[in-house]
Amino acid sequence: MKALLTHRMPGSGQAMLEAAGISVVVSDARAYSEASLAALVARHKPDAVISYLTDPITEKVLRAHGGLKIVSNYAVGYNNVDLDAARRAGVAVANAPVDGYSVAELTAALVVSLSRRIAEAHAYTAKGRYKGWDPDLFVGSVLQGKTLGLVGAGRIGSKAAEILSKGFGMKVAYSDAARNERLERETGAARMEVDDVFRSADVVSLHVPLTDETRHLVDERRLSLMKPDAFLINTARGPVVDERALVAALKDKAIAGAALDVFEFEPKVSAALRKLPNVVLTPHIGSATLESREEMSRAAAQNVIDFLSNKKPVGAILMP
Ligand code: GLV
Ligand code: GLV
Repeated sequence: MKALLTHRMPGSGQAMLEAAGISVVVSDARAYSEASLAALVARHKPDAVISYLTDPITEKVLRAHGGLKIVSNYAVGYNNVDLDAARRAGVAVANAPVDGYSVAELTAALVVSLSRRIAEAHAYTAKGRYKGWDPDLFVGSVLQGKTLGLVGAGRIGSKAAEILSKGFGMKVAYSDAARNERLERETGAARMEVDDVFRSADVVSLHVPLTDETRHLVDERRLSLMKPDAFLINTARGPVVDERALVAALKDKAIAGAALDVFEFEPKVSAALRKLPNVVLTPHIGSATLESREEMSRAAAQNVIDFLSNKKPVGAILMP
């Protein structure tokens, strides 16, 4: 059996594959086009592919080698995988379902960065501009008693809510297709329609996967529902937000600020966004902790080991 890693995978996953008797080929490219990825699969003829969330796993890639059995995505999100094409091609798909603390902690950190203007204040101080205490210098606002509005209350969203409600005394509102009774019990969260989350929250935080339904979920209309002193946080997927509409809302001060770890045209970060003072921007580092990287590495490898020995992988998304 052979596994193709489309990129280097930190952590012990590669050693796990080798210990299970699976031969491992590690490729390396900053980014693949559909054609270059299909050519790579055709060349190596793997039973399993372990992919990055930036790899386009399309019909052409899935059919590049008839013996391909499983794609295991080294990520929680799997919007880069064409699930319909995988179903048609009879290829299994799995993700790395990590516990979510890393993204939840980054979310909380971004909320505080905005509410206390930490990134702006750091840039000012680092530039040597601090000349003396001033009561008007970087005045922010407290989170205590304010409302966190979650769009999506799965593993990551509900952990972020617990951190911000228990640690900072925020109230929680959420919208989700499913009721989250544990979140309601732990934080007193109120479930409501998406539009009502945008209307009532002081901080709107996005925790939905990218699908046809969630693409541009945050558009001009929803942004216009937000309070003028509210913040938007996106640690989910860039295209959930219409970035042009967001830039306009930030420029017009229709909302107070935004913190983004993901971007609509990633890795491109629009120049307009980079020039705004009321934003905090990070380069898709939600799961970038030693703990999560190791967990993801193990999960991505275990999916392959399980599936190739006829067991259902823990991260199974689609089984043929
Ligand atoms: C990161 O964005 C992930 O999906 O794991
Ligand atoms: C600020 O440093 C204060 O003492 O109020």
